[in-house]
Amino acid sequence: MAIEVVDLTEADIPGAIQVIQQAFADDPYYKWVFDAPTFNKQRNYASLSARCHWGINNALFQVAKDTSSPNSPVLGVSCWLAPQPASQPESWYSWTQSWILSFSQLCNNVRYLGHGGLLTNRYWIWKQNQQEAQAQIWDDPRGYYFCNIAAVSPEVQGKGIGGLLFKTVLDKADREGIKCYLESSKDVPNVQIYERMGFEMRMEMECRDGDDACMLYCMVRDPKT
Ligand SMILES: CC(C)(COP(=O)(O)OP(=O)(O)OC[C@H]1O[C@@H](n2cnc3c(N)ncnc32)[C@H](O)[C@@H]1OP(=O)(O)O)[C@@H](O)C(=O)NCCC(=O)NCCS
Repeated sequence: MAIEVVDLTEADIPGAIQVIQQAFADDPYYKWVFDAPTFNKQRNYASLSARCHWGINNALFQVAKDTSSPNSPVLGVSCWLAPQPASQPESWYSWTQSWILSFSQLCNNVRYLGHGGLLTNRYWIWKQNQQEAQAQIWDDPRGYYFCNIAAVSPEVQGKGIGGLLFKTVLDKADREGIKCYLESSKDVPNVQIYERMGFEMRMEMECRDGDDACMLYCMVRDPKT
């Protein structure tokens, strides 16, 4: 394999979504937030597609491609949000882009007659917990690079592709002296993988809906000099 990490383009979106859907098929958070019997893969595809289109202009959205194979298939995906300094209000551009993304998701709800199995009450439980966790953990006014998606095709995990995807953002964060933040929905093996990349555990966040709970592991990486 010859792996190249490049910015996501329109043409890469189908491959990127396939990787995300495969990598998260057994993910504890996804199992908690989606109702398996009513999960609609096409609705999920449409939602991820809207997010990818948004991410091309609004995030650090990258793909790892195998340039030694015909058509250079996408084998890994990462999406990071840039740091938002506490003193800086959201720009009009960013606000408008978020609004367009919300509108696309609303259109998807109409087109697919609902959320495709997403348990929206659980989504909002997670969002609330995330806000509280960040309020406790985030102490740097310059903001954090925030890992939104990290996924490698199951058949090539553990071969260094995730490391290459992370490296581009972690190197940038180190150059700029900015901290990085992620929430892992898997303890084993992800916490160990992220510790090897320099992240430290800051909080174990429980998202609970009645008897059904899901753990998320909030980790922070300080910039290396
Ligand atoms: C988490 C994930 C993105 C990591 O990508 P990957 O390509 O498998 O990771 P890499 O092979 O690049 O390994 C990165 C480091 O972790 C280590 N590592 C990899 N798998 C490991 C495992 N199972 N146990 C312990 N360490 C491991 C590697 O040795 C490497 O460390 P090194 O550079 O010091 O040698 C990928 O496994 C994945 O997509 N998992 C499923 C979806 C998911 O959980 N996404 C993350 C949500 S937060």
